[in-house]
Amino acid sequence: MNDSFILVIFGITSNLARIKLIPALYDLFANNELPENVSIIGVARSQQTAEEFNQYISGVLQMENRHHMHPIDPAVVLRMLQTMHYVSGDVDNPNTYQKLISLFDSLEGESIANRNRIFYLATYPDLYESIFNQLKQHNMTQQTQGWVRLMIEKPIGTDMASSQKLNNLLTEYFEENQLYRLDHYLGKETMQNIISFRFANGIFEHIMNSDYIDHVQITAAEDFGIGDRGGYYDAVGALKDVGQNHLLQMLALALMDQPKSLSDSDITEKRIELFSNITTMPDRHVRGQYNGYTSEKNVHPDSITDTFFAFKVLLNDKRFKQLPIYIRGGKKLTHTVTEIAIVFKNAEDRLFATFPNGRLPNVLIYRIQPNEGIVLRLITKKPGQLSELEETYMQFCYKLYRPSLPDPYERLILDAFHGDQTFFIDAHEVEAQWGITDPYSQKKAPFMYEAGTWGPQEADELIKADHREWLEPSLAFCTL
Ligand code: BG6
Repeated sequence: MNDSFILVIFGITSNLARIKLIPALYDLFANNELPENVSIIGVARSQQTAEEFNQYISGVLQMENRHHMHPIDPAVVLRMLQTMHYVSGDVDNPNTYQKLISLFDSLEGESIANRNRIFYLATYPDLYESIFNQLKQHNMTQQTQGWVRLMIEKPIGTDMASSQKLNNLLTEYFEENQLYRLDHYLGKETMQNIISFRFANGIFEHIMNSDYIDHVQITAAEDFGIGDRGGYYDAVGALKDVGQNHLLQMLALALMDQPKSLSDSDITEKRIELFSNITTMPDRHVRGQYNGYTSEKNVHPDSITDTFFAFKVLLNDKRFKQLPIYIRGGKKLTHTVTEIAIVFKNAEDRLFATFPNGRLPNVLIYRIQPNEGIVLRLITKKPGQLSELEETYMQFCYKLYRPSLPDPYERLILDAFHGDQTFFIDAHEVEAQWGITDPYSQKKAPFMYEAGTWGPQEADELIKADHREWLEPSLAFCTL
């Protein structure tokens, strides 16, 4: 039975592997989600003995990691290490692949009864072509004795043209059903719940239209800087690092039409349809950079890379007529918080309109993190003798009944193993996303902002020009 696989991670010592992949693998072992006989092979350039590799993996699991806060069980680490192997070598050197083949043979000789493989590329994209070439030359892309799948990370390309080039390159080596282009936001529990919340309940979709919704705000703020990722980040910037992918997926799940079914093709079709109904407004765009960014490690001293962006788009479809959507994201901002806020219109004849707080709009908030949940901002009577109003939240909070949520990489690695591409992006979707962000990608000098603020003041002006304001993401709900 073809029920197991070998996972090969190119770039096992990369930041991605340390922060996301190795902790996710731990969770997969801890929750017994992997098949028996699974093997994991890490590939990197440095020479390491098996013992040093084991120490590296154990060390990574002990590192402080805001996404992996739970205690580490040594018995699970031991189980994990028993399946893990290391291959040192350059990814453009044929010897590396000879070593992999020998290792495959010895593992299969021991226990593995099939030749299913996942190749995970946790490397810089400029190495992809060499890897594809070497895999092909060593007959490792063919699916003659089992399936072969490739996982690569967003951003796919750096603009429409380069993503098309990469997508074309991919199809020279792989079939589309072998390709798992990963945006880990699609693997987040809080993102997937948006689909359930919207389409499993009967009361919200009726008011998801321009009669009721005034505008939408999407925020992905982080209170920390780029850390030791300067080499990657300075070439990419905030808009391409998270705007083109994570934030647009937030937009898609919150506003797409109901899919015909929960199948991969139906859900993907609706996400793409949503992207194609977006009108860009390139002059409604602010680029920012935090003070001190150019002194970060591996950042060019004259860099004009954006560490913050804010922009406006419009959504036009059968439910929404020119719906304004304001999107912002960045590093070194006031808080780490990611959310979608759907701001409702105020009825003209609201009885309490003249009261203090009487014209506050209702807001539906999908809080992706932290204090995960879905909340509805309401106006209620302040308890007491007077008829005063206060704002409050009707809350669904994960913390009330779930100590922790599954990790998105844990989910997506399992999906790739099961051959489920629903929460991965195909070539058309990637290109539709670049179609939205390319018009905002001019490299003009950024506005500077201080760490710990909500970005440059020009971002406030961007929304104020429409007589609206950014909502301060509340830290008051789901805090238990
Ligand atoms: C990554 C970006 O894709 O997403 C990082 O490269 C960003 O810059 C991260 O910090 C955010 O992910 P999460 O899951 O921490 O919100």
